[in-house]
Amino acid sequence: MSLADLAPLPLGGVDPLPKERIADLLVEAHERTRALVVDLREEQIDRPLSPIMSPLAWDLGHIAAFADLWLARALPGLRPLRPELFEVYDATETPRASRGGLPFLPSADALAYGRDVHARALAGLEDVDVSPSSDALNAHAFVWHLLIQHEHQHNETMLQAMQLADGELPAPALLSALTRPDALSSVTGPKTVAIEAGPALVGAGPGGFAYDNERPRHSVELGAYELDHEPVSNGAYLEFVEDGGYRRREWWSEEGWGWREREGAERPLFWTDDGRVRRFDRIEPLDPALPVTHVCWHEAEAFARAHGKRLPTEAEWEKAATWHPAAGRRLAWPWGDEPPTPERANLDGVAGGPAPAGARPDGESAVGALGLVGDVWEWTATEFRGYPGFRVFPYPEYSEIFFGTGLRVLRGGSWATRPTIARPTFRNWDLPNRRQLFVGFRCAREA
Ligand SMILES: [Fe+2]
Repeated sequence: MSLADLAPLPLGGVDPLPKERIADLLVEAHERTRALVVDLREEQIDRPLSPIMSPLAWDLGHIAAFADLWLARALPGLRPLRPELFEVYDATETPRASRGGLPFLPSADALAYGRDVHARALAGLEDVDVSPSSDALNAHAFVWHLLIQHEHQHNETMLQAMQLADGELPAPALLSALTRPDALSSVTGPKTVAIEAGPALVGAGPGGFAYDNERPRHSVELGAYELDHEPVSNGAYLEFVEDGGYRRREWWSEEGWGWREREGAERPLFWTDDGRVRRFDRIEPLDPALPVTHVCWHEAEAFARAHGKRLPTEAEWEKAATWHPAAGRRLAWPWGDEPPTPERANLDGVAGGPAPAGARPDGESAVGALGLVGDVWEWTATEFRGYPGFRVFPYPEYSEIFFGTGLRVLRGGSWATRPTIARPTFRNWDLPNRRQLFVGFRCAREA
């Protein structure tokens, strides 16, 4: 399947998708998950790779249990295959740090469970009505998209765990077989784009799949602002480090400085003390043209302050990614309404890492910014909360329980994000001290 085949499902157009397409997407997601672990030893799958991540075997079992649970809720008369496992795989009940001690299924059993549930999903899909007049879970094929998107989200989390594993795990062959297609470009520097004052339309409209936290679409009044033309590069970030960025208290918030002191942080995660960078099991030269990656929100915020800027709000980010000023309308993607292609956005793991700033001019947004979708997630200044008029659907544990708890919103997806997830309305979130995401940032300021 190509990027374009994967991408259009959440974005209006054909709604619901034909069942054959949904089935193809279920099969593709299932195969991708298995491909991520196929070359690992059982022991590497079964044990925690990092204190802040689940063991990969937990992800495998959790993907299966999540589908098992929601299939039983959505299909009349179907009983779950393994309800006794649901507690072990409940992400809310068991924080990542404690998952290593849970009685979760070892890899072979988790893979077998996944296979059984996957077969049930394909069989169940054949008989179900996914038309808009069906029941709440099946209408617009909601629950089917939910299963696909959930598995896709875990595909990226599993890659994060593998990158965190102390340089012991190779990049999955799936990634390393694909060489980086981009020639190195020069660092394009601190160019900015200007966005005029006026309302921003934020959030997903009524058609197609979106999570509850992306809705409803609403208008936010914004002043004129400038946004960095592309994400902050390694080169620019290295200058910040060399200018004493991690020693100058005045560039940090109080909370950020406290984090820096506790961690003893002096550079982004995975930068080595001899000026190189680790990617999975390889140490590589630091490429100044690539976006800086694996920085936490505090580091991003300190960099911005050091440059007389700040992080953009998520409304500012979404306006820059979707607003077409000349046409006076909102686009589905930065470049228009067509789905991502490899020329427009670096997604889905195919490049094995972020691309240099400016490598994809076809992905330019209507206001002239590059790299908004793909390459690196981007921290925003915004705390994760429900939009005005938010309604829980279908369960509060996906997003509502996280509202107002100090989490920060990230936007735009990374090189490792599946295209289904990378829509400009998608809201990711994490703690401001987390660096395991494939995350960078760009800065903003009032015009
Ligand atoms: Fe999950």
